[in-house]
Amino acid sequence: MPKAIFTLHDGTRHTVEVPIGETLMKAAVNADIPGIAGECGGSVSCATCKIQIANGWWDRLPPVEELEESLIEDAVPQTRLSCRVCMAAELDGIEVSVPQSQYG
Ligand code: FES
Repeated sequence: MPKAIFTLHDGTRHTVEVPIGETLMKAAVNADIPGIAGECGGSVSCATCKIQIANGWWDRLPPVEELEESLIEDAVPQTRLSCRVCMAAELDGIEVSVPQSQYG
């Protein structure tokens, strides 16, 4: 199964198996990754699922759509909402980090 690697604010890394088509938000919540709350369940309204995409992976993701953009425009560069990133074969091994702002 494809994997995503989440790096937390303290530098610890968690490798999570993510079925094809599942969002990184759902996988992170299921794996109890700290800092990914996913409060709206993926309806693109809470912005509690932000991740920072590691260099080399950004261009493999689908483009940011308007609604997502409105929730991440003030965020650090290369931020996406993890509820808008679905696992695909070409994303196996994707590396992301959880921004400091996600730890409330
Ligand atoms: S889970 Fe709410 S915006 Fe992603």
